[in-house]
Amino acid sequence: MPDRRIAMVGFLQAQNCSNLPASWRHPESAGDFMTPEYYRRIARTLEDGKFHLAFFDDRLAMPDRFGDDFAEAVRHGVRVVKMDPIPVLSVMGAATSRIGLGATCSTTYYEPFHVARLFATLDHMTGGRVGWNVVTSLNDSEAANFGADGVADHDARYDRADEFVEVVLAHWKAWEPDAILLDKAGGVFADPSKVRRLDHRGRYFRSRGPFTVPPSRQGHPVIIQAGQSGRGRAFAVRWAEVIFAIYPNLELGERAYAETRALAESAGRDPDGFRIAPAVYTTVGETRTIAEDKAAFVDGLSRPVDTLALLSEALNFDFATKVPDDPFTDEELRSISGLQAIRDRVVRLSGNPNPTRDDFVRFSNRGTVREMPHFVGTAAMVADRMQEWFERPACDGFVLAATHVPGAYEDFVRLVVPELQRRGIYHRDYAGATLRENLGLAGRGGASAPGRNARGPVDRVVDPSNP
Ligand SMILES: Cc1cc2nc3c(=O)[nH]c(=O)nc-3n(C[C@H](O)[C@H](O)[C@H](O)COP(=O)(O)O)c2cc1C
Repeated sequence: MPDRRIAMVGFLQAQNCSNLPASWRHPESAGDFMTPEYYRRIARTLEDGKFHLAFFDDRLAMPDRFGDDFAEAVRHGVRVVKMDPIPVLSVMGAATSRIGLGATCSTTYYEPFHVARLFATLDHMTGGRVGWNVVTSLNDSEAANFGADGVADHDARYDRADEFVEVVLAHWKAWEPDAILLDKAGGVFADPSKVRRLDHRGRYFRSRGPFTVPPSRQGHPVIIQAGQSGRGRAFAVRWAEVIFAIYPNLELGERAYAETRALAESAGRDPDGFRIAPAVYTTVGETRTIAEDKAAFVDGLSRPVDTLALLSEALNFDFATKVPDDPFTDEELRSISGLQAIRDRVVRLSGNPNPTRDDFVRFSNRGTVREMPHFVGTAAMVADRMQEWFERPACDGFVLAATHVPGAYEDFVRLVVPELQRRGIYHRDYAGATLRENLGLAGRGGASAPGRNARGPVDRVVDPSNP
């Protein structure tokens, strides 16, 4: 890909904390996280730093699997406030003009027509700057909030998601871009021969159409996905235009990056049709010592309950049922239906086929700043790490998690962004008006667009982070 530049994504939460649950205890964290001012300020900061995308993750329940109770999570503020990201994005879209706006939405608990209309509308309201992070949801707490007895089987969730995305994309393409005539004198609003009904009757969904929102300036919202398992990665390379990941280190990242691109090619998809962005924390300071002191302070904010509550949530397993040095049985390990990538990583890193509860805490670092790579140092040092990852290549960009908000983003934009720009690996300004243009992706269903050229999902692939 000629003229490669880093794609930058802000990893945001419409919650009481950043990605780091302990962040609300940080003295510099803003407490007005349920006000529009808070989100406007983040949006403007990220746009000042020319971020391509401000992205909200989401989960449809509190982390209340630990001890089968919400009390500990609420008391300690472990991601318990979760507002709907869509209205929040509308506020941020109105306060900005160029930055992309992404939100997470589950294929397990909504209907495709609803999601298609919601995101298409937001795409119009923001001039073509929207992205949809497709998730399949992962635990019983979310299921309970939507009237289901428990979360569906891991791979079955992706089968449903495949059909979900097919329906959404088909609705988004129901109107030809030139269907609207607005011929007042002739009395013709639009050409009906350029509007199609879908008449979808599939295994999971029925949806008739015609869809009621014509295409936006970027055709339709950008598709984002973050599958880590074999099935999840097959889904991602089939549909995604942006792929999020967690790469524990540069070497594994380099491998996973190459394998994801190879997987796309073997499925008939152009690997330049998507961008791969792993999540990282950054802590930057005017000197190395300042940065290291700041990082150590942040690390010290986390409490054991953060990890236990979020492990229980993500693995859909109640960690309160185990004492610290109690090994998980084979059956318990098999029964884990949530983020299996965490389970597999703990088994591998601990060298213990039956890890204990302590092993899970120690080797997952879930809910702490050690959960993903953390680039700490001066602007030049942080830029060095990013450049190394980008040029190896182990990524096309980064999903920047914040140790606290808004300070972590303000520091990054003030100190690291100019350094990256000076090195010529990060853009000085937005290339276009829409998210797809700014990411350099093919527009309006081009050759590398999701679902195009794809020969269908690949069912069995090896997870490169689990050799
Ligand atoms: C950067 C990033 C953001 C994610 N955001 C969400 C999210 O908002 N909601 C969610 O349920 N899962 C989220 N996930 C989890 C993925 O969607 C996916 O379920 C997970 O990586 C496990 O892969 P698997 O589904 O293939 O097992 C995210 C993952 C990453 C790496």
